Amino acid sequence: MTEAVLEALRPRPGGRYVDGTLGGGGHAVAILAASSPSGWLSGCDRDGAAIEAAARRLEAAGFSGRFELRRGNFSEMVEWIPPASGDGVLLDLGVSSPQLDEADRGFSFQRDGPLDMRMDLRQPLTAAEVVNSWSEVELVRIFREYGDEPQARRFARAIVQDREARRFQTTGELAALLERLAPRHGKKKHPATRVFQALRMTVNDESRSLQSGLAAACALLKPGGRLAVITFHSYEDRMVKAFGREHTLDYTFPGEVDVPEQRQPRTPLLKWVQRKAILPSEKETAENSRARSAQLRVLEKI
Ligand SMILES: C[S@@+](CC[C@H](N)C(=O)[O-])C[C@H]1O[C@@H](n2cnc3c(N)ncnc32)[C@H](O)[C@@H]1O
Repeated sequence: MTEAVLEALRPRPGGRYVDGTLGGGGHAVAILAASSPSGWLSGCDRDGAAIEAAARRLEAAGFSGRFELRRGNFSEMVEWIPPASGDGVLLDLGVSSPQLDEADRGFSFQRDGPLDMRMDLRQPLTAAEVVNSWSEVELVRIFREYGDEPQARRFARAIVQDREARRFQTTGELAALLERLAPRHGKKKHPATRVFQALRMTVNDESRSLQSGLAAACALLKPGGRLAVITFHSYEDRMVKAFGREHTLDYTFPGEVDVPEQRQPRTPLLKWVQRKAILPSEKETAENSRARSAQLRVLEKI
């Protein structure tokens, strides 16, 4: 999605940009290159390894002196980046390829590793704790809410029964149980996909981070500045759409229900740059299967 992100953010020399999800630094490099020779990038990631890798990559690409990177949640960017200073903010949500590829991080059901899934290794909550000690009711809730898992109840019950005999230690043990319960019969999608997504979102409190991260990103933008958000599944995309809908309205209404007679006019905070989500090109999905479910939405500060 790099080209689409550059089209959305329109980096230019002297512009100030924020990458709230540095990951391997791919988008950060593209933004700094497109805003050469004087564009500035503030970047963050919750993952210490990502910050180190991105810093090395940006320096190797010759951008020393044009960026500041900090480890932390993008919802806290307002604590170190001046408000209304940004020409563009990027949030490229979810996990990075290095996180998925490294078995020890415990994000992948395809690589056996400890049930961890923490983006920030300093936090105490791990996937093992959720799987081994949260109640069946809680497991059903997160599998449904964050994973849209149709078999949430059946999976949660099986996990709770299984863990009476042993503690789930690895991603492989959990994936094997789910595969036994819902054999693939040639289907491409692994039966653990939705459960792993739900666990990852729970461990990293991703829903709450996104809610406050979107507000933080808006606060950092100057008028005319743009927010580009890449999501990878429907729960995240629904949140971005709802945020956009709320802040592009030119009126408010009291309470929960929008009654036309009770509307109060106001100047909206944002406008959609494009109504529909931007999808990856065929070339991108052919080159990178993980890009298949990506969607980009772009808002502009008024
Ligand atoms: C899809 S990757 C980003 C890839 C990056 N755009 C690139 O070009 O390499 C997502 C990254 O966002 C980070 N992340 C996810 N949620 C975050 C949050 N709330 N605050 C900061 N970083 C977050 C993850 O640790 C991961 O490194």
